[in-house]
Amino acid sequence: QRPLMTEPAARLLTAAVVVAAGKGLRIGGDLPKQYRRVGGRAVLTRTLAALASHPGIDRIQPVIAPDATDFYRECLADLEPDLGKKLSEPVAGGATRQQSVRAGLEALAASGAAPDLVLVHDAARPYVATDLIDRAIQAGREHGAAVPGVAVSDTIKLVEPIAPGIGRVHETPARESLRAVQTPQAFVYATLIDAHRRAVAEGRDGFTDDGALAEWAGLSVVVFEGDAANRKITQPSDLIDADRTFSGGADAV
Ligand code: CTP
Ligand code: MG
Repeated sequence: QRPLMTEPAARLLTAAVVVAAGKGLRIGGDLPKQYRRVGGRAVLTRTLAALASHPGIDRIQPVIAPDATDFYRECLADLEPDLGKKLSEPVAGGATRQQSVRAGLEALAASGAAPDLVLVHDAARPYVATDLIDRAIQAGREHGAAVPGVAVSDTIKLVEPIAPGIGRVHETPARESLRAVQTPQAFVYATLIDAHRRAVAEGRDGFTDDGALAEWAGLSVVVFEGDAANRKITQPSDLIDADRTFSGGADAV
């Protein structure tokens, strides 16, 4: 792990990989959730606009399903042209989130201008705010591997499934020590792509976030302050909420 604190902030090239190649099975419907419109613009358009308008992000690498290029073009048409300049051509994702992130990281390597720092962000999190991105960049630069987390309000149990809908309680971790983890997650780019390549070489797939993959690779990962508003659109009710939120504001588009 190579913390980058010695580099002046302005000279660090920072890229964001936006993973948008999922099928949105929990929400269902014909159109994957990242292409559904909330307050008049697609979820993905909102996510890309939020990242591209941040001055600390130099480049964005979108990762989409191979059959979604038309949907993606429609998203771009609704993006302000000056923001669109930060976007690289999208690359095809894979069957798992881990594979999709890897595809984005490899595309950045292949571009010949690999970044120093990379943020990995879910397309399904359109609420990502400027100050959360600030904290991600800062924590990634200082610690090399950093994920946003929020305290949990429910008590969480570790369970082992024993029958459909029934699990045996294994353990109840102290709630104070638990964090629900979000994106954007920030890493020294060279370290994260190494960890991803190693995971593939060792046949590991299915890490649901890059923090877990980094832990597996032996990196020390820190949690910084997330944002309770930065929810991931996951269930049908999340789309209804997002539509209401993005329609309601004075600056709704
Ligand atoms: N993702 C991806 N490639 C995959 C799976 C997921 O790029 N093979 C992306 C999704 O598009 C999403 C983010 O990873 O932006 C978080 O995944 P999740 O919320 O689980 O989205 P889906 O996998 O699309 O939804 P579901 O699990 O309900 O099918
Ligand atoms: Mg999923």
